[in-house]
Amino acid sequence: MTSNQPTKLDATHFDAKARQWDDNPVFRERGQKLAQAIRETVPLHRHMSVLDYGCGTGLLSFPLKDELGAILLADSSAGMLDVVAEKIAAQGVTNMTPLKLDLLADPAPAQKFDLIVTSMTLHHVPDTDHILHLFHGLLQPGGYLCIADLDQEDGSFHGPEVDVLHGFDRADLSLRAAQAGFADVQFRTVFSIAKENAGGTRDYPVFLMTARRAGA
Ligand SMILES: C[S@@+](CC[C@H](N)C(=O)[O-])C[C@H]1O[C@@H](n2cnc3c(N)ncnc32)[C@H](O)[C@@H]1O
Repeated sequence: MTSNQPTKLDATHFDAKARQWDDNPVFRERGQKLAQAIRETVPLHRHMSVLDYGCGTGLLSFPLKDELGAILLADSSAGMLDVVAEKIAAQGVTNMTPLKLDLLADPAPAQKFDLIVTSMTLHHVPDTDHILHLFHGLLQPGGYLCIADLDQEDGSFHGPEVDVLHGFDRADLSLRAAQAGFADVQFRTVFSIAKENAGGTRDYPVFLMTARRAGA
Protein backbone atom coordinates (compact mmCIF):
# COMPACT_ATOMS: atom_id res chain seq x y z
CA MET A 1 0.00 0.00 0.00
CA THR A 2 1.37 3.44 -0.83
CA SER A 3 0.91 6.44 1.45
CA ASN A 4 0.41 10.06 0.40
CA GLN A 5 1.62 11.29 3.77
CA PRO A 6 4.48 13.82 3.48
CA THR A 7 7.81 12.32 4.54
CA LYS A 8 10.63 13.81 6.59
CA LEU A 9 14.04 14.27 4.95
CA ASP A 10 16.07 12.09 7.30
CA ALA A 11 19.82 11.48 7.52
CA THR A 12 19.75 8.89 4.70
CA HIS A 13 18.33 11.56 2.36
CA PHE A 14 21.25 13.87 3.14
CA ASP A 15 23.76 10.97 3.06
CA ALA A 16 22.76 10.40 -0.57
CA LYS A 17 23.13 14.12 -1.43
CA ALA A 18 26.45 14.69 0.35
CA ARG A 19 28.90 13.84 -2.48
CA GLN A 20 27.25 16.27 -4.93
CA TRP A 21 26.42 19.02 -2.39
CA ASP A 22 29.40 21.25 -3.16
CA ASP A 23 28.80 20.94 -6.93
CA ASN A 24 25.75 23.20 -6.55
CA PRO A 25 26.81 26.84 -7.19
CA VAL A 26 23.71 28.15 -5.39
CA PHE A 27 24.70 26.31 -2.19
CA ARG A 28 28.29 27.58 -2.47
CA GLU A 29 27.21 31.19 -3.09
CA ARG A 30 24.68 31.00 -0.23
CA GLY A 31 27.44 29.87 2.14
CA GLN A 32 29.73 32.71 1.03
CA LYS A 33 27.01 35.39 1.32
CA LEU A 34 25.91 34.16 4.76
CA ALA A 35 29.51 34.04 5.96
CA GLN A 36 29.98 37.67 4.83
CA ALA A 37 26.75 38.72 6.58
CA ILE A 38 27.93 37.04 9.82
CA ARG A 39 31.29 38.81 9.50
CA GLU A 40 29.45 42.13 9.19
CA THR A 41 27.21 41.44 12.21
CA VAL A 42 29.27 39.53 14.77
CA PRO A 43 32.71 40.63 16.06
CA LEU A 44 34.56 37.45 15.09
CA HIS A 45 37.94 36.60 16.61
CA ARG A 46 40.51 33.81 16.65
CA HIS A 47 39.57 32.62 20.15
CA MET A 48 35.87 32.20 19.46
CA SER A 49 34.58 28.64 19.96
CA VAL A 50 31.92 27.81 17.38
CA LEU A 51 29.22 25.22 16.73
CA ASP A 52 27.99 24.91 13.13
CA TYR A 53 24.78 22.92 13.62
CA GLY A 54 23.44 21.02 10.60
CA CYS A 55 26.73 21.90 8.94
CA GLY A 56 26.24 19.74 5.84
CA THR A 57 29.57 19.90 4.01
CA GLY A 58 30.62 23.01 5.94
CA LEU A 59 29.79 25.58 3.24
CA LEU A 60 29.02 28.22 5.88
CA SER A 61 31.92 27.78 8.28
CA PHE A 62 34.77 26.93 5.87
CA PRO A 63 34.85 30.53 4.56
CA LEU A 64 35.10 31.77 8.20
CA LYS A 65 37.62 29.25 9.53
CA ASP A 66 40.65 31.56 9.51
CA GLU A 67 38.78 34.20 11.56
CA LEU A 68 37.61 31.83 14.33
CA GLY A 69 38.92 29.49 17.02
CA ALA A 70 37.84 25.84 17.36
CA ILE A 71 34.83 24.98 15.17
CA LEU A 72 32.66 21.92 15.86
CA LEU A 73 30.84 20.87 12.68
CA ALA A 74 27.79 18.89 13.78
CA ASP A 75 25.29 17.06 11.60
CA SER A 76 23.01 14.02 11.82
CA SER A 77 24.16 12.81 8.37
CA ALA A 78 27.28 10.63 8.39
CA GLY A 79 27.61 11.16 4.63
CA MET A 80 27.86 14.94 5.06
CA LEU A 81 30.41 14.50 7.83
CA ASP A 82 32.54 12.18 5.63
CA VAL A 83 32.79 15.01 3.09
CA VAL A 84 33.63 17.49 5.86
CA ALA A 85 36.41 15.21 7.16
CA GLU A 86 37.87 14.88 3.65
CA LYS A 87 37.83 18.68 3.15
CA ILE A 88 39.52 19.21 6.52
CA ALA A 89 42.25 16.71 5.61
CA ALA A 90 42.70 18.00 2.04
CA GLN A 91 43.06 21.63 3.20
CA GLY A 92 45.18 20.81 6.26
CA VAL A 93 42.70 22.59 8.54
CA THR A 94 43.60 22.39 12.23
CA ASN A 95 40.65 24.12 13.95
CA MET A 96 37.65 22.13 12.62
CA THR A 97 36.20 18.89 14.03
CA PRO A 98 33.26 16.94 12.58
CA LEU A 99 30.72 15.40 15.01
CA LYS A 100 27.68 13.22 14.36
CA LEU A 101 25.00 14.90 16.44
CA ASP A 102 21.24 15.25 16.49
CA LEU A 103 20.48 17.51 19.44
CA LEU A 104 16.87 16.25 19.50
CA ALA A 105 18.00 12.67 20.12
CA ASP A 106 21.55 12.80 21.51
CA PRO A 107 22.92 14.33 24.71
CA ALA A 108 24.12 17.90 24.18
CA PRO A 109 27.90 18.40 24.24
CA ALA A 110 29.26 19.47 27.64
CA GLN A 111 31.19 22.30 25.97
CA LYS A 112 29.81 25.87 25.81
CA PHE A 113 30.27 27.98 22.68
CA ASP A 114 30.82 31.67 21.92
CA LEU A 115 28.95 31.40 18.62
CA ILE A 116 26.40 28.99 17.13
CA VAL A 117 25.70 29.20 13.40
CA THR A 118 23.11 27.15 11.56
CA SER A 119 22.18 27.42 7.89
CA MET A 120 19.03 25.98 6.27
CA THR A 121 18.67 23.38 9.03
CA LEU A 122 16.01 24.77 11.36
CA HIS A 123 13.17 24.06 8.91
CA HIS A 124 14.10 20.37 9.27
CA VAL A 125 13.70 20.52 13.05
CA PRO A 126 10.01 20.21 13.99
CA ASP A 127 10.19 21.85 17.44
CA THR A 128 11.67 25.35 17.05
CA ASP A 129 11.22 26.30 20.71
CA HIS A 130 13.07 23.18 21.83
CA ILE A 131 16.07 23.75 19.58
CA LEU A 132 16.23 27.45 20.57
CA HIS A 133 16.34 26.42 24.24
CA LEU A 134 19.08 23.88 23.48
CA PHE A 135 21.11 26.51 21.60
CA HIS A 136 20.67 28.91 24.53
CA GLY A 137 22.01 26.27 26.93
CA LEU A 138 25.01 25.63 24.66
CA LEU A 139 26.08 29.29 24.53
CA GLN A 140 28.29 31.19 26.93
CA PRO A 141 26.62 34.26 28.46
CA GLY A 142 26.87 36.97 25.79
CA GLY A 143 27.37 34.32 23.09
CA TYR A 144 25.95 34.83 19.59
CA LEU A 145 23.36 32.81 17.71
CA CYS A 146 23.16 33.11 13.90
CA ILE A 147 20.27 31.36 12.17
CA ALA A 148 19.96 31.41 8.39
CA ASP A 149 16.76 30.02 6.93
CA LEU A 150 13.84 30.61 4.60
CA ASP A 151 11.27 33.27 5.18
CA GLN A 152 7.79 31.87 5.58
CA GLU A 153 6.59 30.30 2.32
CA ASP A 154 3.60 28.25 1.17
CA GLY A 155 5.31 24.84 1.16
CA SER A 156 6.24 25.01 -2.52
CA PHE A 157 9.99 25.24 -1.74
CA HIS A 158 10.19 21.51 -0.90
CA GLY A 159 6.83 20.47 -2.37
CA PRO A 160 3.83 18.77 -0.75
CA GLU A 161 5.52 15.36 -0.44
CA VAL A 162 8.08 16.66 2.08
CA ASP A 163 7.35 17.20 5.78
CA VAL A 164 9.34 20.27 6.85
CA LEU A 165 8.52 23.66 8.35
CA HIS A 166 7.54 26.15 5.64
CA GLY A 167 10.15 28.72 6.56
CA PHE A 168 9.76 31.19 9.42
CA ASP A 169 7.75 34.31 10.13
CA ARG A 170 10.37 36.79 11.38
CA ALA A 171 8.17 38.34 14.10
CA ASP A 172 7.20 34.89 15.39
CA LEU A 173 10.80 33.61 15.41
CA SER A 174 11.95 36.79 17.11
CA LEU A 175 9.38 36.25 19.88
CA ARG A 176 10.37 32.61 20.29
CA ALA A 177 14.05 33.60 20.50
CA ALA A 178 13.24 36.19 23.18
CA GLN A 179 11.21 33.60 25.11
CA ALA A 180 14.22 31.24 24.95
CA GLY A 181 16.39 33.94 26.58
CA PHE A 182 17.92 35.73 23.58
CA ALA A 183 18.32 39.50 23.29
CA ASP A 184 19.29 41.90 20.47
CA VAL A 185 17.39 39.85 17.88
CA GLN A 186 17.97 41.24 14.38
CA PHE A 187 17.09 40.08 10.88
CA ARG A 188 18.44 40.86 7.46
CA THR A 189 17.81 39.38 4.03
CA VAL A 190 21.02 37.87 2.73
CA PHE A 191 20.19 35.68 -0.24
CA SER A 192 17.40 34.58 -2.51
CA ILE A 193 16.93 31.13 -4.04
CA ALA A 194 15.18 31.00 -7.43
CA LYS A 195 13.25 27.76 -7.92
CA GLU A 196 11.19 26.43 -10.77
CA ASN A 197 7.92 24.81 -9.82
CA ALA A 198 4.48 24.25 -11.33
CA GLY A 199 3.62 27.96 -11.14
CA GLY A 200 6.86 29.13 -12.85
CA THR A 201 10.03 30.54 -11.26
CA ARG A 202 9.80 31.84 -7.71
CA ASP A 203 12.26 33.55 -5.42
CA TYR A 204 12.58 32.34 -1.83
CA PRO A 205 14.40 34.85 0.39
CA VAL A 206 16.88 33.59 2.99
CA PHE A 207 17.28 35.64 6.20
CA LEU A 208 20.06 35.81 8.72
CA MET A 209 18.83 36.20 12.30
CA THR A 210 21.44 37.23 14.85
CA ALA A 211 20.84 37.27 18.60
CA ARG A 212 22.80 37.16 21.86
CA ARG A 213 22.41 35.07 24.93
CA ALA A 214 21.73 37.58 27.70
CA GLY A 215 24.21 38.03 30.53
CA ALA A 216 27.47 39.08 28.87
C1 LIG B 1 19.61 21.92 3.76
S1 LIG B 1 21.01 21.15 4.51
C2 LIG B 1 22.06 22.55 4.86
C3 LIG B 1 23.51 22.16 4.97
C4 LIG B 1 24.48 23.34 5.22
N1 LIG B 1 24.22 23.99 6.48
C5 LIG B 1 24.41 24.34 4.09
O1 LIG B 1 23.94 25.47 4.30
O2 LIG B 1 24.86 24.00 2.96
C6 LIG B 1 20.39 20.70 6.11
C7 LIG B 1 21.40 19.94 6.95
O3 LIG B 1 20.86 19.76 8.25
C8 LIG B 1 21.13 18.45 8.68
N2 LIG B 1 20.11 18.11 9.68
C9 LIG B 1 18.77 17.97 9.51
N3 LIG B 1 18.17 17.69 10.67
C10 LIG B 1 19.16 17.67 11.62
C11 LIG B 1 19.18 17.44 13.02
N4 LIG B 1 18.05 17.17 13.72
N5 LIG B 1 20.37 17.49 13.66
C12 LIG B 1 21.52 17.76 12.99
N6 LIG B 1 21.56 17.98 11.66
C13 LIG B 1 20.40 17.94 10.98
C14 LIG B 1 21.07 17.61 7.42
O4 LIG B 1 21.74 16.37 7.55
C15 LIG B 1 21.73 18.54 6.42
O5 LIG B 1 23.12 18.37 6.37
